[in-house]
Amino acid sequence: MRLRRFLIVLPVVTAISVPALVLAQDSTAKAVPSSALTTLTGVYTDQQASRGESIYRNMCLACHDDSDHTGAVFKQNWDTRTAFDLFEIIRTTMPNDDPGRLPREDYSSIVAYLFKVNKMPSGKKPLPTDSTGLKQIVIAVSDPVKQR
Ligand code: HEC
Repeated sequence: MRLRRFLIVLPVVTAISVPALVLAQDSTAKAVPSSALTTLTGVYTDQQASRGESIYRNMCLACHDDSDHTGAVFKQNWDTRTAFDLFEIIRTTMPNDDPGRLPREDYSSIVAYLFKVNKMPSGKKPLPTDSTGLKQIVIAVSDPVKQR
């Protein structure tokens, strides 16, 4: 009666392995491939971030402060998306009263500043201003930065 024994064992095995599989899929779905360039590897320069900060002060501070772009909300909106996504949403919608008014270089510096306020490390290479370059950088928020 080999077959009969097999039939009894099978549902038990499936019951154990299915939840394990679901868990495994969940964790891989969010994981960033180790080969990807992420914002934790130093994708902007300090100089660029300070430039971004002064543009932000002039153009954005009237309606925003850092807490709009940090913490759990930033993580939820931007984690695992690309630098291009963030760049492009700002470029096409901000400043709210005159979208697209700044040169690409300025938008890029602002994004660098936002990475800085999210405690992402600076590096030696500036954040690109072209779409192709920006698309290669994955935003990785390790721990939400506490709102100030
Ligand atoms: C005149 C007011 C005003 C100015 C100036 C302004 N913003 Fe905004 N911004 C808003 C409003 C209102 C929203 C929310 C609107 C929405 O969610 O569609 C917003 C939303 C945003 C978002 C969130 C978009 C998203 O979907 O996550 C970002 C990022 C942002 N602004 C960045 C900037 C930056 C950078 C600047 C400066 C270049 C700027 N804003 C200037 C009013 C403004």
